[in-house]
Amino acid sequence: MLRTHTCGQLRQTDAKTAVTLAGWVHRRRDHGGLIFVDLRDRYGFTQIVFDPKDKILFSHAEHIRPEWVIQITGTVTKRLEGAAREENPTGAIEVRVNAIVILNEAKTPPFEIDQDKEVSEELRLEYRYLDLRRERMRKNIMTRHRILQSIRKFFYDRDFIEVETPILIKGTPEGSREYLVPSRLYHGEFYVLPQSPQQLKQLTMVAGFDRYMQIARCFRDEDQRGDRQPEFTQVDMEMSFVDPEDVMSITEQSLIALTKEIRPDVKILKTPFPKFTYVDAMNRYGSDKPDIRFDLPFTDVSELSKGAGFGIFAKAVESGGVVKCLRVPDGARFTRKEIDELTETARIYGAKGLAWIKIGNDGYDGVPVDKLGKDLMKKIVNAASAKPGDILLFAADSFDVACSSLGAVRTELGRRLGLTDPNVFAYCWVNDFPMFEKSKDTGAVAAVHHPFTRPKDEDRKLLDSDPLKARAAAYDIVLNGSEIGGGSIRIHEAALQSKIFEILKISPADAKRRFDHLLRAFQYGAPPHGGIALGVDRIVMLFCNEPNIREVIAYPKDQKAKDLMLGSPSAMPEEQIAELGIKIVEKKEG
Ligand code: AMO
Repeated sequence: MLRTHTCGQLRQTDAKTAVTLAGWVHRRRDHGGLIFVDLRDRYGFTQIVFDPKDKILFSHAEHIRPEWVIQITGTVTKRLEGAAREENPTGAIEVRVNAIVILNEAKTPPFEIDQDKEVSEELRLEYRYLDLRRERMRKNIMTRHRILQSIRKFFYDRDFIEVETPILIKGTPEGSREYLVPSRLYHGEFYVLPQSPQQLKQLTMVAGFDRYMQIARCFRDEDQRGDRQPEFTQVDMEMSFVDPEDVMSITEQSLIALTKEIRPDVKILKTPFPKFTYVDAMNRYGSDKPDIRFDLPFTDVSELSKGAGFGIFAKAVESGGVVKCLRVPDGARFTRKEIDELTETARIYGAKGLAWIKIGNDGYDGVPVDKLGKDLMKKIVNAASAKPGDILLFAADSFDVACSSLGAVRTELGRRLGLTDPNVFAYCWVNDFPMFEKSKDTGAVAAVHHPFTRPKDEDRKLLDSDPLKARAAAYDIVLNGSEIGGGSIRIHEAALQSKIFEILKISPADAKRRFDHLLRAFQYGAPPHGGIALGVDRIVMLFCNEPNIREVIAYPKDQKAKDLMLGSPSAMPEEQIAELGIKIVEKKEG
């Protein structure tokens, strides 16, 4: 080894020991005739000191620059009284250098490693290996590692086995566009990168490995967002002979154990984690991933609004929609500008506007007030338990638009009013999602979760009469308003699976072409089974209190799905493309 110790290892008890360290020059300070260098590696920093008495050594020290890689030999010395740095674990000692080897020089980095200055993300991603040297990223990558190890251990200790499933597969529908890999041997045929190991883990249950887990890489060609990457990681798991409660319970235990280990400083809001049905979550918080660190629940005033003098409310209810009301305590102080901004937030989710009423000590203010009339106003104020000083915000529209637009306003208010305490972890479950949804654009019926999800037993009969009303035995786990995982009990019978394909308008021929492996396997003794997948990147993001998942992925793609460091995607040599039997008809730039 080129070193006897790491840069984070030495303590007072090592005083007088001769050591060899290797690392990066973090910072150099010339001070009182001496040169001090903070030597850095991933374990920490050690202060090393060059004395001008040794002229050759000292002239080396004068030349070294930030990010050079050096090896030094020296003696551990206790720092003088008052010079110790408690915040650094090696802060009580320094190493008096008596030999130095320059292992490698470094160009001046495109950004400073030793300072937490704002650097453009483009530059950070292009030089990711330098960005990863910075303290924030070093911490995040270490936390990610610890999270992965902790989860693995948790599941191994409970009899789960890790089975690696292939990356070149036939495709498994999870609702996104798939990445295709052309086959060289079979021109015109493609492998598909898995959106998740969904079907393979189910086949693993058919194979009898009744408790499976995998830290699985998933690929989805979808629009990028702060919490989405084209390639991401799941803790994927599946169990045989279980009810939803079994899967939820073990997931919950794993998350509690993880939180206690990795973030002992945070308070878990509530255990067991609260459970909401999808309909309740939408009704109460306008979101299927509610942030319950704060309450701000909605009041449904649809019934009261029937036939109201305020046309917008009355019409919404007449046409089968709802009127939802959000009371913001002390919100009457909101300025017009603030209300306009909240209205813009609601519009993003399809709302045509956001009606508001301010509650004063001796009256109400707001457009709907006169039209609603005194009696109705009183009833609404009572229903919402509003007090003087509050503001009531209203969304009147179809159930989905009213709930989700007011839900977005609620989330925004949580942030603005400082209600999202980063030191509280509010986990909750959202269950009983609908099996199917109708696309607003095409009218096509699609699976809300995925087509292998089992309907709730009591809703089986609705598959024939009114499939859009059928609920799924599905559950999502939410942390502080982020969906960090989702799963379900699966279909294990070929006949029921075929029926679901039929509802999704997948013809028997198409089902056979795409899913024959599964339908066939279900005829050979498939056990009842279910599972869940946790989004590792989102969990690490929340545990590291970072605003997006790129901050917790070593080598992420940028917001346009590019790897700026490797420069991918990139053009390939013509011969290589020809070998695949592929012709590029049009090359789009950018
Ligand atoms: P689902 O599609 O809900 O379920 O994915 C599970 C979890 O993975 C995370 N996730 C993502 N994270 C980063 N970037 C993305 N593009 C992305 N997409 C999803 C989310 C999500 O909750 N096969 C099923 C699981 C099952 O039924 O067992 C599945 O993949 O945190």
